[in-house]
Amino acid sequence: MLQDKQVALVTGGNRGIGYELVKQLASNGFKVIMTSRNSEKGHAAMQKLTGLGLDVSFIVMDVEDKKSIRQAAITINNQFGRLDVLINNAGVYLDEGEKLLTMDSVMLEKTMATNFFGVYHVIRSFIPLMEKHDYGRIINISSSYGAMREMSRQGVGAYKLSKLALNGLTQLIATEMKGNIKINAVDPGWVSTDMGGPSAPITPEQSAASILWLATIGPDGPQGGFFRGQEQIDW
Ligand SMILES: NC(=O)c1ccc[n+]([C@@H]2O[C@H](COP(=O)([O-])OP(=O)(O)OC[C@H]3O[C@@H](n4cnc5c(N)ncnc54)[C@H](OP(=O)(O)O)[C@@H]3O)[C@@H](O)[C@H]2O)c1
Repeated sequence: MLQDKQVALVTGGNRGIGYELVKQLASNGFKVIMTSRNSEKGHAAMQKLTGLGLDVSFIVMDVEDKKSIRQAAITINNQFGRLDVLINNAGVYLDEGEKLLTMDSVMLEKTMATNFFGVYHVIRSFIPLMEKHDYGRIINISSSYGAMREMSRQGVGAYKLSKLALNGLTQLIATEMKGNIKINAVDPGWVSTDMGGPSAPITPEQSAASILWLATIGPDGPQGGFFRGQEQIDW
């Protein structure tokens, strides 16, 4: 079956910036698939949004698990027949106060598994659905911590490296993209979520609103860029 509305998918959509992205995409006329690694949390979050009359479905997807990603892609192909917007939002921030040389190396491996390899495998699994209709808008939620200048400052090395690699992935995939499929990275700012903490100056609502324009850019819109709001920033 081919869904007539444009379909958007957000990873890690059950809380934080991801939850707001799901809400705002649905409020802007998209059919939105909220994905979460946890079935209970995902269902509860979806129900809050369908309770507001929003067109939101839920599918389990753990971005660390290739099988779970492939299964989600098959389900979405069967149920909706299309994917127009993919937002790679799921992420972890595990190494606050740690140094690369002294941390448990599992911290780096786990961070890369979610923030970098997770995005890589999600993109690979969902690109065929976009290619089918020669249309797609992919947004990778990166961080200013992934910018090159951050590599000469100590601290949160695992997180920084994962977002640096994600930025590289965004640019490299952009060079391989064919037709009307666009991929860009964004820095959502310092946002008051579980990850960002309560002192962060930007609300998840404001952050999601600053990202959404990339979901609807035209064929002449940016390809392989890094943005904060609508401003292009340095890698
Ligand atoms: N908050 C900030 O200040 C800030 C700044 C720069 C960049 N970012 C980036 O923005 C994105 C969203 O951050 P946030 O602040 O909203 O974080 P958050 O509140 O901690 O939420 C993170 C989300 O990612 C999900 N997630 C983690 N590992 C996953 C996995 N293996 N599979 C599927 N989902 C997984 C979490 O699911 P569970 O609920 O199951 O844990 C949760 O839904 C992240 O990529 C983050 O790096 C945030």
